[in-house]
Amino acid sequence: MRILLLGSGGREHALAWRISQSPRCTALFIAPGNAGTKELGQHFSFGVTDFEAIRACCVDQSIDMVVVGPEEPLVKGLVEYLRAEPLLKSLSIIGPGQEGAALEGSKAFAKAFLQRHGIPTASYREFTKENYQEGLAYLQNHTLPIVLKADGLAAGKGVLICNSHKEALEGFEEMIQSAKFGEAGKKVVVEEFLQGIEISVFVLTDGKNYVLLPEAKDYKRIGEGDSGLNTGGMGAVSPVPFVDGTLWNKIKTRVVEPTIIGLQKDSISYCGFIFIGFMIVKDEPFVIEYNCRMGDPETEVVMPRLQTDLVELLAAAAAGELKNQSIKTDPRTACTVVAVSGGYPEDYKKGFPIQGLDQLPASSLVFHMGTQQKGEQIVTNGGRVLAVTAFGNSISEAAAAARTIQDAIQFEGKYYRSDIGFEFK
Ligand code: AMP
Ligand code: GLY
Repeated sequence: MRILLLGSGGREHALAWRISQSPRCTALFIAPGNAGTKELGQHFSFGVTDFEAIRACCVDQSIDMVVVGPEEPLVKGLVEYLRAEPLLKSLSIIGPGQEGAALEGSKAFAKAFLQRHGIPTASYREFTKENYQEGLAYLQNHTLPIVLKADGLAAGKGVLICNSHKEALEGFEEMIQSAKFGEAGKKVVVEEFLQGIEISVFVLTDGKNYVLLPEAKDYKRIGEGDSGLNTGGMGAVSPVPFVDGTLWNKIKTRVVEPTIIGLQKDSISYCGFIFIGFMIVKDEPFVIEYNCRMGDPETEVVMPRLQTDLVELLAAAAAGELKNQSIKTDPRTACTVVAVSGGYPEDYKKGFPIQGLDQLPASSLVFHMGTQQKGEQIVTNGGRVLAVTAFGNSISEAAAAARTIQDAIQFEGKYYRSDIGFEFK
């Protein structure tokens, strides 16, 4: 099978690593990729939203399967674009069409979906310019904290957790009247605050059947002890110790199955990943978000634990035959620790040489997130630069092993959180 993988982050490096190990993969192409994915497949420089270049590549290279890493091309209609090409009738695409992707692309769409299908989630209301005054009154009477969400994609920055009414009213005004998040924020979801522990659950579905990949917990804050600004994710662990059989069963029966049935009832065909962000409140699962893709850095712990052939699973999803698949998982704990550029998640510089990568033990799992090959040298090319994953018999053992490898890699301004998994030690 000739496979084209779209994306350039740690998620795509981890996917490319697993895909390239499959005997079913005869050729892997990656666009645009990063310095780490270079050794796993042939690269093209076009971007993930260059639909015409993607279409032409699929035709020219006789691609059998496209695996879409990030959400943006899906939300913008890549699947419909490729489906319109008569020469690509037999192309398999891992990633949903625009309607399915709206589960991530529109918070209001996702909330209405959850409510319509009786799936547990925080109660909410949505507001636009039209009912702005009503929104102000609603906020003034809302219990604190108040959660405000810009409706559309806002690069992970569209959620405000407000601890005062003043903050909520200002945030609301900025989103709707001043269009702080552009079009994405012109509709706002106001949501009840849920106090609990977040986990990430990954479903691969063909639209009717599904398999569940190992769950993970992501560490979003920049600082130790979960302090400071939000980031794309500073590390992850899998499995999550408190997720036992009882909770897993609730997740399956109350959320995953109703989600798949809901897609069918709404006539939304869906082939791909659904990443469900949960808040576990007193042992009860609530959905806080859907994503139409895998998580980053969660993929960097999920893929190393996945022992089933990934291409086999993806091919089964594309063929509508996931019913016959089961998942085999490494029982050990995986922990990934993300190294970021100094200053991230605020301003940071790119282009610093990265040292030490070529002296690591061969078995090291280093997933590039924001790197670039410049001649002989690999340099930093993003806020999040490298995720190092290691296994252990416990979270502390896996985390310590990941830090040991991180310490052998250097670049100017490098920072990582040394406490990933801290609450489970
Ligand atoms: P989202 O973009 O929906 O994942 O939201 C970003 C982050 O905001 C989540 O990872 C949570 O930490 C937090 N969050 C979102 N919704 C809620 C909620 N209803 N209650 C508490 N925290 C939330
Ligand atoms: N790590 C969270 C995300 O990928 O959205």
